[in-house]
Amino acid sequence: MRTSISSLQKIYQNGEKFTVLTCYDATFSQVLEACGVDVLLVGDSLGNVIQGEETTLSVTLEQIIYHTRCVARGSEKAFIMADMPFGTAQLSPECTFKNACQIMAAGAQMVKIEGGHIMTDTIQFLTQRGIPVCAHIGLTPQSIHQLGGYKIQGNTESSASRLFSEARALEQSGATMLLMELVPAPLAKQITAAISIPTIGIGAGVDCTAQVLVLHDMLGLYQGNKSKFVKNFMAESCNIQDAIRNYVKAVKAGHFPDKAHEYQ
Ligand code: KIV
Ligand code: NA
Repeated sequence: MRTSISSLQKIYQNGEKFTVLTCYDATFSQVLEACGVDVLLVGDSLGNVIQGEETTLSVTLEQIIYHTRCVARGSEKAFIMADMPFGTAQLSPECTFKNACQIMAAGAQMVKIEGGHIMTDTIQFLTQRGIPVCAHIGLTPQSIHQLGGYKIQGNTESSASRLFSEARALEQSGATMLLMELVPAPLAKQITAAISIPTIGIGAGVDCTAQVLVLHDMLGLYQGNKSKFVKNFMAESCNIQDAIRNYVKAVKAGHFPDKAHEYQ
C-alpha cells in the first residue's frame, strides 16, 4: 500500500516533517523509497534535468504521464505527486480536470498546479471531484517570462501580503498542500503557521512542513541551477543512497535548510 494523504497529514499533525524529492524514473523511484523519502514529485523540472531545456515550458502532458508511470512502477510505498505542465491547467477547470485524470490514471496520487488566486476555481473543481491538489506559489517557473527571472518572491511588503492572501485562498479552495518556492524564510514560516494544510518549501526556509529539492541538484549533477538554496548532499556522502539518507535525516531533524541555504 502506498503512503496516503492521511499518513502525510498525520506526520504534519504530530509536528514532524516529511521529505520530498523529484523523481522521473523507476530506478530512482526504488532507490529514493528505500532511503526513506516520503513523497516523489514527478516535476516538470524534467524539462531541465532530463531534456536539457532552459525552462519547463516545453514539457507536455504525455511526458509527465510517461514519467509518472515509470516512477509508479519503481516503488510500492512512496506517495507520488506529479506536476501539471504549462498549458494543461490554465484553460478551464473542466479542461484541467480532464488532463489531471490522465496523470492520476498513470499513478499519481496528487497533482501540483502553479498559481495563486487565478487557480482557486480550478482547485475547487478538482478537489471536489476526487483529485487532491498541491498548490505552488512564490516563484512559479512556468511564469518565468512574466516574472522576469528566477528571483526571490514576497520580499516587498505588498508582494508578501499578496502571497499571504494567495495561501489563504488556496487553502479555502480545497488545496491539500501548499508548495512555496523562493520565498523569504520568515514569510514562509508565518504562512505555514497561519494555514492548516502542510507546506512544502524549496528555498523557503526550514519552518515549512516539508522540504523538496530537485534530485539532480542535490546530487550535485545539474549545472544549471546556481540558487543559494541548493545543497549538494553528495559532497559529504560516499554514494547516492548515503546522500539521500543524509537529506532525509537533515530535513526530519530540521537541520536543512540551514541559514546558508535560505533567504531572509
Ligand atoms: O518541477 C519541479 O521540480 C518542482 C519543484 C522544484 C518544486 O516543481
Ligand atoms: Na515543477
